[in-house]
Amino acid sequence: MTSELSPIDKAKFIAAKQATEYVKSGMKVGLGTGSTAAWLVQCLGEMVRDEGLLIKGVPTSSRTARLARDVGIEVITLDEAKWLDVTIDGTDEYDAELNLIKGGGGAHLQEKIVATASDRMIVIADASKKVDTLGAFPLPIEVIPFGMRTTRALIEETLISMDVLGRDVTQRMNGDAPFVSDEGNFILDLHLKRIGNPRQLSLILNQIPGVVENGLFLDICDVVIVGHADGRVEVTDITNDTNEQVRFDVRDDDNIFQDFAD
Ligand code: 5RP
Repeated sequence: MTSELSPIDKAKFIAAKQATEYVKSGMKVGLGTGSTAAWLVQCLGEMVRDEGLLIKGVPTSSRTARLARDVGIEVITLDEAKWLDVTIDGTDEYDAELNLIKGGGGAHLQEKIVATASDRMIVIADASKKVDTLGAFPLPIEVIPFGMRTTRALIEETLISMDVLGRDVTQRMNGDAPFVSDEGNFILDLHLKRIGNPRQLSLILNQIPGVVENGLFLDICDVVIVGHADGRVEVTDITNDTNEQVRFDVRDDDNIFQDFAD
């Protein structure tokens, strides 16, 4: 059965499965967006259906809200929840300090609001997301449509004095039309290649009036769980400075993936 999932999907699934250990009945849980977070939502849905897990989920996008409802998770808004026990989400990059670039799926605004309103943020990923220095993945910036060209010009001007290697800015598209976020905004992707000072960059970008939020998640993530296709899982917890290895026994006759591959 394991052969029915690609190695990368096995890695994402294993990370998601391990993250469910942090979810207990009675919790309010932030549900991330993206392919890795989708595995988590499916795993939690299975626990709700088969093990009687009682949770309320706060999705970080309309896509995740649909999936969560489909798999049987009770969905509430962040305003109804007020505060969350834990948020579990994917990432586009993470570094040794567990700082992140997110927003590859265009949902970083809601993701950042939800993660910041949580006791704990746990990131689930495959090993390809680890970087020495943030910035190889284009940094997403959510901007309001009004005056977008002016906002873009201000961002480009700002980048001249920033410690970055690249300065190309592109507008995220969805086919021939601009990509529109759940909040009705546009996304600009900054191709920076290397971000020398993420804190300074984040602060300065967010001071530009048309910028709603950038995709740098600094000092927000507490734990990163990295899955590998061979069943290894690494759990790095920055709050207690631990790094542990766990192993899922993944054999080809194992049915660990069976329900999800069907
Ligand atoms: C969406 C995100 C995602 O978490 C990020 O893009 C990772 O996605 P995936 O798990 O599909 O690799 O930030 O806005």
